Amino acid sequence: MSYPDKKVLLDVKKDFPVLVNNPNLVYLDSGATSLKPKCVIDKLDEYYEKYGVNVNRGVYKLSYTATTEYEETRTVCAKFLNCKEKEVVFTKGASNGLNLVAQSYGMDNLSEGDEVISSELEHHSCVLPWQNVCNIKGAKLKYVELDSEGRITVEAFKKVLSNKTKVVVLTHISNVMGYITPIKEIINLAHEVGAVVVVDAAQSVPHVKVDVKELDCDFLAFSAHKMFGPTGFGILYGKYKYLKAMRPVEFGGDMIDEVYKNESTWKDAPFKFETGTPPVAEAIAFKEAIKYIESIGYDKIVAHEKALLDYTMNELLKIDGITIYNKNVETGIIAFNITGVHPHDASTIFDERDICLRAGHHCAQLIIKWLDTIGTLRACFYVYNDFEDCDKFIQAVKDSAEYFKEW
Ligand code: ALA
Repeated sequence: MSYPDKKVLLDVKKDFPVLVNNPNLVYLDSGATSLKPKCVIDKLDEYYEKYGVNVNRGVYKLSYTATTEYEETRTVCAKFLNCKEKEVVFTKGASNGLNLVAQSYGMDNLSEGDEVISSELEHHSCVLPWQNVCNIKGAKLKYVELDSEGRITVEAFKKVLSNKTKVVVLTHISNVMGYITPIKEIINLAHEVGAVVVVDAAQSVPHVKVDVKELDCDFLAFSAHKMFGPTGFGILYGKYKYLKAMRPVEFGGDMIDEVYKNESTWKDAPFKFETGTPPVAEAIAFKEAIKYIESIGYDKIVAHEKALLDYTMNELLKIDGITIYNKNVETGIIAFNITGVHPHDASTIFDERDICLRAGHHCAQLIIKWLDTIGTLRACFYVYNDFEDCDKFIQAVKDSAEYFKEW
């Protein structure tokens, strides 16, 4: 595809102070974390400057203001995901939410001989909590065989699914390869055998519309910081019937109903999972991130990222001396290496040009092993990238390939 006028759908660099303060920066590491728009930063400031007190505790006006702002985020999240407010658990991030499900639902519902299905495409936060639970409970962790490109397919999923399957835990979009998992079909099949499905949506919710009712997933976790929100905050969606039955895994302030010397009772979900003082400012500001995404619209986000991806991939395919691992990817992630060069060595050339990439195993060693490499370079596109960023990146790849040819 050619883009002669190099005009993208979105022109939002001005909304991001980091880009305004660093006009030459080419930020292609949004898979690790996104930059934050001014509206989110302003909301954090508003909390600290105007009513910076604790929530759910104070019997004074400022605390009511903070609590109202805080709970409003739950309302905004529920609408955003198409679920009930009591199905929205505030967490510290995707990893925290995924661990919570394994530690609570997994520990209480898995027994010897049961099976959990995951894949080699997973982030460590998705598969390791279940590796741990399976080892403790004597359950078996099975892996969907990836196809020749490294994708999870419905056909391969069917081969590992059985009446023994109790939990399926899969990524929605891979943080290394950018592939979209056919998660809807997988959820339907898993439900036919009575298994619950946990979706790692850390890389999907920032980029594509996710409607949990339409997906019919049982649990879904994501982080605020990859979608314009603050760090240290995230969401775990869970169907209420499961959340209601689950035990809390952390105990302390705020999550209790009545405390006695030898036993205690808990609040209802989601509050029984929210122990201690939460990341108040981060929770309050997160709703501004959601509003920012909605003000742009997912249709435009998808189209914008696709245009940048197609243009860049097309140019990279012409370059000798590089290895691209996901040539047919459908989302804005490119995994590649300068052939024969360690990604950390190669990344220095990009850094010298103020091009931010991630290099390494991306907390997903299983797929890196599957690719038979030691790590990759990774470029991710988001709303604030433009064709100028792509051109600088493409030129840096060409120059790196040329430079390392001499080695
Ligand atoms: N999981 C994040 C990434 O893929 C940090 O970079």
